[in-house]
Amino acid sequence: MYNAKAVIFGILIFVGLCASPFWASFIGRDYKSTDIVLPKNEKNCIEDADFMRSQHMRLLNEWRDEALRNENRVYTALDGKKWVISLQNTCLKCHNSYEDFCQKCHVANSVYPYCWTCHIIPKGGK
Ligand code: HEC
Ligand code: HEC
Ligand code: HEC
Repeated sequence: MYNAKAVIFGILIFVGLCASPFWASFIGRDYKSTDIVLPKNEKNCIEDADFMRSQHMRLLNEWRDEALRNENRVYTALDGKKWVISLQNTCLKCHNSYEDFCQKCHVANSVYPYCWTCHIIPKGGK
């Protein structure tokens, strides 16, 4: 006879391992710092810098889901400030050089978001 407990335990471990990249994306990783160029005219991001560093990917997913599934285009930050949900018109308005900000850090960390096949990368600064 099989040992049902052992089989179930095995299955749980297997599922846990398969899902671990998924969990990792929620915890957020450390990454190498780079000489990214921060906005000159603004002091603060939507949320604080630590949060943005580790959670911006999650935030963007949330934004997309809000905009597309719930037709909600307003994000209320932890400090109560309201922002228009738009990759192009909000994030990239302040971070106006995709190359010197998003891309520099992504390349240094070997991350290649696939967003730009559809979304437009703004060219250069203002
Ligand atoms: C297959 C094409 C496609 C890809 C790839 C894609 N998007 Fe989008 N995304 C869209 C479309 C279409 C909309 C809807 C635009 C609208 O209604 O304003 C949208 C809307 C959004 C929005 C909310 C509205 C806005 O204008 O910003 C966010 C945020 C967003 N996408 C983020 C992302 C991110 C981050 C990635 C990469 C991880 C990504 N998208 C990849 C097609 C795509
Ligand atoms: C109002 C202008 C503004 C908007 C809008 C904005 N940012 Fe920022 N962002 C900043 C500033 C200023 C900093 C530096 C904050 C600091 O160092 O305390 C920053 C920091 C960051 C960081 C951390 C960089 C580091 O130091 O490691 C990330 C990542 C980031 N922003 C991504 C985004 C994304 C993604 C969006 C859109 C969802 C966005 N930002 C929208 C101004 C903005
Ligand atoms: C300071 C470094 C840094 C900056 C600046 C930065 N990112 Fe990222 N980004 C990362 C890292 C590291 C990851 C991978 C995180 C992980 O897998 O846990 C990532 C992941 C992402 C992802 C998810 C991609 C995937 O395949 O999982 C998106 C979308 C993204 N970043 C968008 C942006 C946008 C848009 C900007 C500029 C407004 C930006 N990032 C600026 C470091 C950065």
